[in-house]
Amino acid sequence: MPEETLSVVDNRTGRRYEIPIRDGAIPATELQKITTDGAGTGMMSYDPAFLNTASCRSAITYIDGERGILRYRGYPIEELADKSSFLEVAYLLIHGELPDPEQAREWVEAITHHTLLHENIKKLIDGFHHDAHPMGILVGTVGALSTFYPDAKDISKAESRRLQILRLIAKMPTLAAFAYRHAIGMPFAYPDSDLSYSGNFLNMMWKATELKYEPNPVLERALDVLLILHADHEQNCSTNVMRAVGSSHADPFSATAAASAALYGPLHGGANEQVLRMLKEIGSISRIPEYVKRVRAGELRLMGFGHRVYKNHDPRARIIKKVADDVLAVTGRSPLLDIALEMERVALADDYFIKHRLYPNVDFYSGIIYAAIGFPVDMFPVLFAIGRTPGWLAQWQEGLLDPEQKIARPRQVYTGPAERHLPGVRQPAAAR
Ligand code: ACO
Repeated sequence: MPEETLSVVDNRTGRRYEIPIRDGAIPATELQKITTDGAGTGMMSYDPAFLNTASCRSAITYIDGERGILRYRGYPIEELADKSSFLEVAYLLIHGELPDPEQAREWVEAITHHTLLHENIKKLIDGFHHDAHPMGILVGTVGALSTFYPDAKDISKAESRRLQILRLIAKMPTLAAFAYRHAIGMPFAYPDSDLSYSGNFLNMMWKATELKYEPNPVLERALDVLLILHADHEQNCSTNVMRAVGSSHADPFSATAAASAALYGPLHGGANEQVLRMLKEIGSISRIPEYVKRVRAGELRLMGFGHRVYKNHDPRARIIKKVADDVLAVTGRSPLLDIALEMERVALADDYFIKHRLYPNVDFYSGIIYAAIGFPVDMFPVLFAIGRTPGWLAQWQEGLLDPEQKIARPRQVYTGPAERHLPGVRQPAAAR
């Protein structure tokens, strides 16, 4: 079979170049051979926001946005959401295979063992203002954890990486719940090792004076499924940050703080929070047409709609709709869900949304479920961060172990002024 190549003719020089194709991609560094004078660093590719640039080779998550496919390590998201627990999925993302029963037992036990926080973290949380956004507290405290675990700097040792992975997956819910309890002035509720990962999180959020908190099994499972749906999404904004920070060999707590900060933005993990605010602002089904008119006029965006990758449908949104039904059967119907369902119906039939290929994304319904379970809106991106942590860590480790990776350092096309001089500075003779 002939080698797969791309032939490029530089019309400035008439020279022809053969660029190798590997897995449907060309190495951007090959473009450097294309020069007009044989000097300099040659041609670059220009791709703001990485619209068409693969930054790594990855065996973790597969997405086909045109066909609405999402798979973790080859398994369809629908099957994982139906049959697995969040911690099994976390194991799968990190190790590449689902655990056997013994591995699952050890994994759950190890994570449960690491859920406690150093008591000084509580003092740090106490220092935040009472109305501090829990995502801000999460970003600050997860970064601070690196100072408690200096061994986390040993990123080249497999054993150390494993320990930090366990710590991070275990401690994110505790940090999140403590941030919430701080905001409402409740004493912190400590982890309960008898409960599942999601059940324990509900316990740390809402345990009051009862001796033992018993989570509602439907809500516990719904939360677990939501965490599964958020667990990884290949090279999204926050994962790209995780890999970039990890590429400088910073410890994983610092890298997770940076990734969480990226997730905080309203165009990424902050979108579910915005969806709920938007649905509340719309307020009633009768006001939907007026709202859609403003979206069409470019005045605002319909939050929870559109995706960089999914241009057909977001498979997670379908699963979430079903989870919403289960949860609302327990908690009672939400008027916001009625507005959301009608908004989806109107938008999917509207030529603006059809033309722009805008479909509900994972965040459109997740906020309604979180609100029905009882989470305040501020906690939505925090829940996303808890779910995404195993994905970040799997991607971080994969990046570190990839011999083709180096410190992330993009190029730029300089558009500023040419050399110039401050008044009164003598120019070198050659420049005069
Ligand atoms: N409402 C209205 N118009 C939209 C929307 C929207 N939600 N999303 C995109 N568009 C329009 C844009 O105005 C643009 O129109 P134009 O070409 O006529 O100027 C076109 O669609 C393309 O938009 P881009 O911003 O270039 O698309 P991009 O792929 O960069 O953005 C994004 C994807 C950020 C998700 C975008 O669709 C958006 O802002 N959605 C709302 C926020 C949201 O729900 N984010 C959650 C994403 S999922 C996640 O992070 C888990």
